[in-house]
Amino acid sequence: MRSSQLDSARHFLSEFDLSADEFRQIIKRGGEFREQHESGTSEALLPRRTLGMIFEKSSTRTRVSFEVAMTQLGGHAIYLSPNDTQIGRGEPIEDTSRVLSEMVDVISVRTFSHTALERFAAASRVPVINALTDLLHPCQMLADMQTFLDHSGDIAGKRVAWIGDGNNMCNSYINTAKLLDFELLIACPDNYTPDANLLTAAGSNAQRVTTPAEACRGADLVVTDVWASMGQEEEEAQRKKAFADYCVNMQLMQETAEGALFMHCLPAHRGEEVEADVIDGPMSVVWAEAGNRLHAQKALIEFLLTRS
Ligand code: CP
Ligand code: NVA
Repeated sequence: MRSSQLDSARHFLSEFDLSADEFRQIIKRGGEFREQHESGTSEALLPRRTLGMIFEKSSTRTRVSFEVAMTQLGGHAIYLSPNDTQIGRGEPIEDTSRVLSEMVDVISVRTFSHTALERFAAASRVPVINALTDLLHPCQMLADMQTFLDHSGDIAGKRVAWIGDGNNMCNSYINTAKLLDFELLIACPDNYTPDANLLTAAGSNAQRVTTPAEACRGADLVVTDVWASMGQEEEEAQRKKAFADYCVNMQLMQETAEGALFMHCLPAHRGEEVEADVIDGPMSVVWAEAGNRLHAQKALIEFLLTRS
């Protein structure tokens, strides 16, 4: 059984590694995991399974959610940083991947280059999960979509506003708009646009608009993220100037549809990409969104190890 599983390792590097039905199945299952967690009835469904977690960038939510997920599923997670492993001393990523996949059952990787992640996955005999690259953050999308489902129902046909940087989260929203068939309106400065190929591929599901107000008009969900992502620390001052008109405030939220939600993958900078009265106000679901990282990733791991 084990070797046939290994021969057909299923990876989650991009939203498009799941069909729309599979994506919806995982976020629905995430809801069941949340209910079990809240009622104290969660089961150890994956005893003795091990997740190897490579983090080449900082993390609070992703690291803790994966680690707790494996504990609750009855397995174990190992945190691997470049500083403490041979990764940081130049061992080829393909070799690291092959070695880890001799020992662990699933691997999550947070790194800079998406191409490097793809090379890592191509060499792996066990499922590889994208825990964030410069291009995409698909695990966050599972949590965001589970949160939207919980609060507002299926997102198909709904309108979503992206305000700010055309970064990894924006790219992931573009892919998910195409996959789950919602309308994404993106307000970003000219020099900070999302990946052009992903935007083109999304067709009518995603488009740039001129102003944040235009993006928010009639939106069912407003999303933003930091102005300077990890790895862009030296651009912070320049970015603060470029994004000065891209702060999600109450005036923008008043443009939205009845019952609209606000999301942010966190960490947030109050007074920069979002005002405190929005992120700490009644339209914000950021804490449920963060909590759903745990439940959605339990569903993802279960899917990759037992159902795919
Ligand atoms: N949202 C998110 O991925 O947070 P961390 O960087 O803390 O993992
Ligand atoms: N865009 C941010 C997301 C952090 C979860 C970054 O890449 O730093």
